[in-house]
Amino acid sequence: MSKLVITEVHGKVGLIRISRPEALNALNNEVVDGIGAAIDGFEADENIGCIVLTGNEKAFAAGADIGFMKDFDYMHAYKTDFITRNWERIKTTRKPVIAAVAGFALGGGCEMAMMCDMIFAADTAKFGQPEIRLGTMPGAGGTQRLPRAVGKAKAMDLCLTARMMDAAEAEKAGLVARIIPAEQLLDETLKAAATIAGFSLPVVMMIKESVNRAFESSLNEGLLFERRVFHSAFALEDQKEGMAAFVEKRKPAFRNC
Ligand code: HXC
Repeated sequence: MSKLVITEVHGKVGLIRISRPEALNALNNEVVDGIGAAIDGFEADENIGCIVLTGNEKAFAAGADIGFMKDFDYMHAYKTDFITRNWERIKTTRKPVIAAVAGFALGGGCEMAMMCDMIFAADTAKFGQPEIRLGTMPGAGGTQRLPRAVGKAKAMDLCLTARMMDAAEAEKAGLVARIIPAEQLLDETLKAAATIAGFSLPVVMMIKESVNRAFESSLNEGLLFERRVFHSAFALEDQKEGMAAFVEKRKPAFRNC
């Protein structure tokens, strides 16, 4: 396991911390591979029901590592499948991932946060896609996920002017699920993650998959997908338990089956 990525288990929540403070958590291969390995571990661990990805108080991540990629040529980027090769592990996780963002989430850092299922932002968070300043463009989903989150106007504004957006603007625009005072960011995010991890894991995964489907399909196709998955939820023992517990006025004991 990389020293640049620290993992901790908090009850049923897997925490991944990017720890490269001297470079504002800039994302090089070691960091991204470390995050992928941590996700592999938590995905395989039946005890884990939710994952939190965070940085430190100054930066979630200030982007892809500029020094690392500055001399890439086209063939290197193409042959090594830069970004696709390792960054998208977050996207394929079936367990929910919450990004807890304090400080900078810029360029690839903002894109990595947007790969997560939701973003909780400290009041210190700053989001941006400043690649244009470096003579390049977002390449890990920024031009696609940002407009879906905040609309075309603001996405164009951020990608074309390189300006940063603070937490309040990001929440108002729909990029961020919650704003939390910086000193409480991790505790509050872990609390929300624990709530999620306390539910039936197969149901959590069904909901995540269905919400994500909304971004991949027409409304009717999405509704059909949801209906089929909803019907399949009646096959779960946890559905019997959850509804019986409600009727019997007691707490449900979910068994993830
Ligand atoms: C490598 C980085 C870095 C990055 C910061 N650092 N961002 N190193 N890649 N993306 C390093 C700095 O070089 C410096 O190292 C240390 O972190 C502290 O940064 P400072 O600039 O001294 O801090 P500050 O003055 O507070 O400014 C913070 C900042 C600035 C505004 C965030 O660092 C900045 O503009 N960083 C670049 C942001 C960016 O352009 N991100 C997009 C990258 S391109 P030393 O050794 O000098 O102390 C990208 C491509 C995406 O992400 C496409 C595919 C993923």
